Amino acid sequence: MSFRAVVAGCGAYLPERILTNNDLAKLVDTSDEWIRDRTGIRERHIAAEDQRTSDLAVEAARAAMKDAGVTAADIDLIVVATATPDLTFPATAAIVQSKLGVKQGAAFDLQAVCSGFVYALSTVEKFLACGQHKRALLIGAETFSRILDWTDRSTCVLFGDGAGAFVVEAVEEKVADERGVIASYLRCDGDLVDLLYVDGGVSSTGTAGHVRMQGNKVFREAVTRISEAMETVARQAGVAPTDIDWFVPHQANERIIQGVVRKLDLRPDQVISTISGQGNTSAASIPLAYCQGVADGRIKKGDLVMLEAMGGGITWGAALLRA
Ligand code: ACO
Repeated sequence: MSFRAVVAGCGAYLPERILTNNDLAKLVDTSDEWIRDRTGIRERHIAAEDQRTSDLAVEAARAAMKDAGVTAADIDLIVVATATPDLTFPATAAIVQSKLGVKQGAAFDLQAVCSGFVYALSTVEKFLACGQHKRALLIGAETFSRILDWTDRSTCVLFGDGAGAFVVEAVEEKVADERGVIASYLRCDGDLVDLLYVDGGVSSTGTAGHVRMQGNKVFREAVTRISEAMETVARQAGVAPTDIDWFVPHQANERIIQGVVRKLDLRPDQVISTISGQGNTSAASIPLAYCQGVADGRIKKGDLVMLEAMGGGITWGAALLRA
């Protein structure tokens, strides 16, 4: 029997505290105008001191489970895409499993930084398609505020905290009605590690470290690589990029998103953009944007949705699904 991985529900969570560009201008030599012009970001959410990545993940997961109409007893796989885990080990997914009261199945983290959600969706799709698992919780959750150097204006203005989640179900091909993940494409070029990395880690410094980025070099790589990934996925699915209903990009920079829109002849009104109010929430940004699109009635059952991301590694990729 063959199965399709269908998104049965989604959920989002943003911490209460909001940090505006003007707040940041009091910390570093920057301005609201510079940040808005260069990135499209106005404000971002920051986790409370006692909130861990798993706490954000659990809020988003509960919302997704409610949306899908499922309980803890229905979940047999939890994958958390994060670069900011609670602990070095165990996986944040294990902590999330316990907090949700899920007693069966497997749980693990996946680390591809900002590309984490696309990598995780592609992974989960394979677990479900082969029949090994029945219903997955796929969560992108980050507390990037914990690894920012708050004296470095070139990085601290870009990121925010948050979590988004999908419940993804294995649905028999013949009843799936074409819904589900159709194609995905993942890439990594490890020779470009130095463009975007964290300068600490367990086996190097013994510390968590801080984000370091040659932003303009990442920027130059972004539009070409992201567009190629989207074209590849569209080709695999036998459609043209212009056939999609909605474009749900990783929210790193509004200028990168608009560059991709122009290169692939998409319409600006096909983009689900959350960057102005959330900044770059790394692995959480795609499910957060997808949930926004569902919540405000733009993404409807049966719509063709393209997801894409690029992040540290350099990793990048795209996925096409029917909602
Ligand atoms: N406020 C004011 N000026 C600033 C700031 C700031 N916050 N940050 C940098 N500048 C200055 C620089 O010092 C530089 O000044 P100089 O010309 O005097 O040297 C000038 O602005 C231009 O700097 P650039 O880095 O060339 O600016 P750019 O237009 O490239 O914008 C940005 C920077 C927003 C970071 C952009 O390069 C970008 O978005 N890059 C891609 C980010 C991305 O996609 N990352 C991947 C995902 S993240 C992940 O995986 C963790």
